[in-house]
Amino acid sequence: MSIQTAKIEKRVTVRTLQKLKGKEPITMVTAYDALFAGLFDGEVEMILVGDSLNMSFFGKKDTLSTTMDQMIYHTQAVCNGAKLPMIVFDMPFGSYMTSEMALKNTARVYQETDAQAVKIEGGAERADTIKTLVDNGIAVIAHIGLMPQHIRSEGGYIIRGKSEEDILSLIEDAKALENAGAFAIVLEGMKSEAARRITECISIPTIGIGAGVDVDGQVLVWSDMFGFFEAFKPKFVKQYLDGAAQIRAGLGQYRDEVKAREFPSQKYTY
Ligand code: KIV
Repeated sequence: MSIQTAKIEKRVTVRTLQKLKGKEPITMVTAYDALFAGLFDGEVEMILVGDSLNMSFFGKKDTLSTTMDQMIYHTQAVCNGAKLPMIVFDMPFGSYMTSEMALKNTARVYQETDAQAVKIEGGAERADTIKTLVDNGIAVIAHIGLMPQHIRSEGGYIIRGKSEEDILSLIEDAKALENAGAFAIVLEGMKSEAARRITECISIPTIGIGAGVDVDGQVLVWSDMFGFFEAFKPKFVKQYLDGAAQIRAGLGQYRDEVKAREFPSQKYTY
């Protein structure tokens, strides 16, 4: 079996992802604008326009105040920048509290953006809503485990799957979501044993974040993995670049050169 290490050349669809389960890990990152989406284009199978943008991009302390209008704007930008990855719209808190709301808001996503799928947080209690969306032609990724939109109701970010009882409840959630028609499930913030057992129990791909290696794919928030978001750094984040330090160094050099009247030199002058 050959593992894809080169650029992705064809538009990624639901079927592409389903074929990868059990064969080759799926790669996903977040993006919030056309510039970064363009850099990620062709490099990963999926881009998530995550409501994490409320924290890393907008400076709020959690994701709950993100609105449909903000998500639509950022998703349009990402769709302008990337043509090959599957682009996933993260449904913001309050946009899918009933099946009717979810249907109205996801229809808006398809009408106003080129996103191919939406992501919804929640377990078995969201199965009816997901079935309604899928029956109406919306592609849905579910999201279980640590659910950032539940931070206030749960009193913090709680790692799941620490007991057999909790693992079994997560497995029941995953099965209910698969039966409802979700085509993939994000598994966030759980013990790796829980993620492994869920992945073995369902036939749709699992995408892990803080869920260990025994899943069908991984997702990271771009500003975490490239070292731009400094407010906090969860254990599961591997930093692939020291982005903040590099920006500060470049900016410091620019400031010093401007102060010393070294910039712009002749080379940068008409
Ligand atoms: O909003 C987001 O970026 C997410 C990921 C953490 C999966 O939901």
